[in-house]
Amino acid sequence: MYRSENWFGRRDVDGFLHRAWVKTEGFTDEVFKGRPVIGISNSWSELTNCNAHLRLVADAVKRGVWQAGGFPLEFPTMSLGEALMKPTAMLYRNLMSMDVEETIRANPIDGVVMLAGCDKTVPANLMGAASVNVPALMITGGPMLNGRWRNREVGVTDCWKINEEMRGGRMTEEEMQEVESCVGRSAGHCMVMGTASTMACMVEALGMTLPGAAAIPAADSRRYQAAETAGRQIVELVNRNIRPSDILTRKAFENAIRVLHAISGSTNAVIHLIAIAGRIGVDLPLSIFDDLSRDTPWLVNLKPAGRFMMEDFYYAGGLPAMMNEITDLLHLDELTVSGKTVRENLIDAEVVNREVIAARNQPFRADGGLVVLRGNLCPNGAVLKQTAATERLLQHEGRAIVFEDFEELHRRVDDPDLDIDEDSVMVLKNAGPKGAPGMPEWGHLPIPKKLLARGVMDIVRLSDARMSGTAYGTAVLHISPESAVGGPLAAVRTGDRIELDVRNRRLTLKVEDREIARRLEDWRPRPPKYKRGYGHIFLNHVLQAEDGCDFDFLRGQSAVETATQTYG
Ligand code: FES
Repeated sequence: MYRSENWFGRRDVDGFLHRAWVKTEGFTDEVFKGRPVIGISNSWSELTNCNAHLRLVADAVKRGVWQAGGFPLEFPTMSLGEALMKPTAMLYRNLMSMDVEETIRANPIDGVVMLAGCDKTVPANLMGAASVNVPALMITGGPMLNGRWRNREVGVTDCWKINEEMRGGRMTEEEMQEVESCVGRSAGHCMVMGTASTMACMVEALGMTLPGAAAIPAADSRRYQAAETAGRQIVELVNRNIRPSDILTRKAFENAIRVLHAISGSTNAVIHLIAIAGRIGVDLPLSIFDDLSRDTPWLVNLKPAGRFMMEDFYYAGGLPAMMNEITDLLHLDELTVSGKTVRENLIDAEVVNREVIAARNQPFRADGGLVVLRGNLCPNGAVLKQTAATERLLQHEGRAIVFEDFEELHRRVDDPDLDIDEDSVMVLKNAGPKGAPGMPEWGHLPIPKKLLARGVMDIVRLSDARMSGTAYGTAVLHISPESAVGGPLAAVRTGDRIELDVRNRRLTLKVEDREIARRLEDWRPRPPKYKRGYGHIFLNHVLQAEDGCDFDFLRGQSAVETATQTYG
């Protein structure tokens, strides 16, 4: 019996009202004849350009649901747009996950197809679906077509380069304005291997979308075909009672982490995967990311670490082709939403462009994209994307130049009197989960103008912030505990020596332990930024980066409700 029959199958006044109210939308008795109700959670919004086409995708899903004998009902969710939301969409990821979870829980939904695209909309949906644990699958919106400016292919990553070129005087403001109009040429999410593309690949590697679906461009008709197929498949999942907990196993997360390294994906995925795992009851310590990094080769040549973009990745064979290269590293017997195992999903996958997807025995790098650092500056860990860093800076010692917060950074960074050189280590404090708050993507600290003018394009940068998946540079991120809760980062002062030793996975503040302890004794927290509302909840309950920045009270699952009597 379907869960929705508790609403629509009743012969009492509640059943009468449930059916009558749905009929006001123009549906007939046909929809109540033993069809599972398929919710389509839609993060469509004109404020989230990356998701602005998702109503069309929903139409395709509905076709599939009807074909398979289901009853589709689309519902809106909160939408998180990376570009427009301030101070950061990350502040609202957990709120959106609650919206998804509770909407599913409260309504007669037997299964759900989640439509997402922009960075946070993907993990928020997965977190909500994991906690409510009804059959679910996701269709992501797909990447934008590659950008093209004059005769040059451009992607979101180039925005950072172009901005630095302009600040360094090598590009005009008019030229930059021209790029604005053509860096994204279609609907969809950012087309480089930024956070949205990474998360789409994570959804596929976890087994929560159809094989091959992650990389299909948003504007490609095959994305709509995949959506229609997903509509049929969710009915199958409901009928077989296959739930997220059957798919999101520890082994599935290990597959996703392998893929994260092989695609050289965004550092943000570390936080989101840990948060999703926490909802489904899978223990995913930060250390596993480093363990699996050491023997996972980097195979996908996409910006910001490499040269190509998602459209090229799709034409080269997409994620199944890449995963087929590392079958020896994957758990192949894990079930996926296709109803098949990972092994079965990969059978026909092949690489058709070796410039984009390298062979297993000829990788772009023998180890993975991300590393986890430890040391007296980050006892609970920090993350660095070595494939987006400058190789010679991976072993480096320099003098700290400290910015107490983002405002100070922007006030001073281009000051000609700033005492900084190419060997310095820029340090940003108060940019973590509680400090900013919301852990914005400030970790890609701007290079001071005076260094840019000398052609210096990268120096070591440290913070408790995140970094956009589209950015690049030698940026140590997610330092934990963060400075705003009195982590050792709070003790760093301008002039201290800091050593980055990626080979040994160490980050060291070269100051005596006693002196660090003394400085931390003198440290005082800043007054809370929010005294009411959602921000207040956030400050009181957000966890640190190594726990996925989820709220402490949201981890785990709780059972779905069945309808109880409302009337009479
Ligand atoms: Fe939405 Fe990049 S801004 S994916």
